[in-house]
Amino acid sequence: MSLIEKIKDRFDLSPIKPKWPGLIENYKKWLPVNANTPIITLKEGGTPLIRVGSIEKRIGRGIRVYVKYDGLNPTGSFKDRGMTMAISKAKEDGCEAVICASTGNTSASAAAYARRGGMRAFVLIPDGYVAQGKLAQALVYGAEVLAIKGNFDKALDIVREIAEKYPITLVNSVNPYRIQGQKTSAFEIVDALGEAPDWLCIPMGNAGNITAYWMGFQEYFKAGHSTILPKMMGFQAKGSAPLILNAIVKEPETIATAIRIGNPVNREKAMIAKEESKGSFLAVTDEEIINAYKILGKEEGIFCEPASAASVAGLLKRKQEIPNKSTIVCVLTGNGLKDPDCAITNNDAVFHSDLDANLKTVAKTMGF
Ligand code: F0G
Repeated sequence: MSLIEKIKDRFDLSPIKPKWPGLIENYKKWLPVNANTPIITLKEGGTPLIRVGSIEKRIGRGIRVYVKYDGLNPTGSFKDRGMTMAISKAKEDGCEAVICASTGNTSASAAAYARRGGMRAFVLIPDGYVAQGKLAQALVYGAEVLAIKGNFDKALDIVREIAEKYPITLVNSVNPYRIQGQKTSAFEIVDALGEAPDWLCIPMGNAGNITAYWMGFQEYFKAGHSTILPKMMGFQAKGSAPLILNAIVKEPETIATAIRIGNPVNREKAMIAKEESKGSFLAVTDEEIINAYKILGKEEGIFCEPASAASVAGLLKRKQEIPNKSTIVCVLTGNGLKDPDCAITNNDAVFHSDLDANLKTVAKTMGF
């Protein structure tokens, strides 16, 4: 080894390693791509699985809890997993424009990937109910934004009809390629743990993601990569819980705007995932969501968006039911930076303002 090599080795100065190629490249043989598929990627996937002691401490009994921090994807949410697939396939089919309805994250992701693939991106959003960060992304990524006076469910009805009538590709989770891409997160979890977890806790809105995880866990199980299948534990916000109420919620309401959905398109598939996995669904209140959101932030240094915290809130709510020594994974679907308004209104931080700009005042305020 030359001296330079020795120094590089000692101080780990090699280029970023291992080189993550993006999820399509990494899980190619599990995905419907071929040699002609132009892969539109921002190197999504490969997100960390992080152990969270602060949650374990609240549960006890030797139970291990991890979070799958999918808010670290290129546009800050799990949607990138599905979008790399949906947009690559749209490109392969010669499509020039895509459309989606969105509570924010899908629109950000669709815009980024579509533009990267040289396509137009139209996004329909419920006016006034999309977090600032997500709206900012759609605009910067060059989407054509259509804000409607109606909720997500209405927006989805409209885009489904538009995609039927006009030459434009729908990239909501009714697009099967979205689910294909998103299932890779289940693969990553099993690859990281060497086994499937006992429970997977996940927030549900349109219920595409729970469908995708269940598909991924089943495929890996059938191929012998895991010896167990997780129970799928889905959570919705109380004011927006059609899958728990088993009904359509006409006017969904929750602080977690990402999952403010009253009529999930993947309802049947989510129910199958629940039944086949012997899992269970439960509603959590906005207060419980914010409690989990704060714990993750201030005790773990993990900033997720409110919808994502529903998975941890749900786990804490079900803590009596967890078998001893279980391994649990909670999916953190989106990054906290997406919703700065929620963060600024919901924290326990000490914030001293209007201070005179001198050392004495600052030191005194600090308690010296
Ligand atoms: N978490 C976040 C951060 C989301 O943005 C969404 C959905 C979900 C969870 C629920 O996932 O719909 O697959 O059950 N957001 C969609 C959107 C609806 O438009 O961005 P799901």
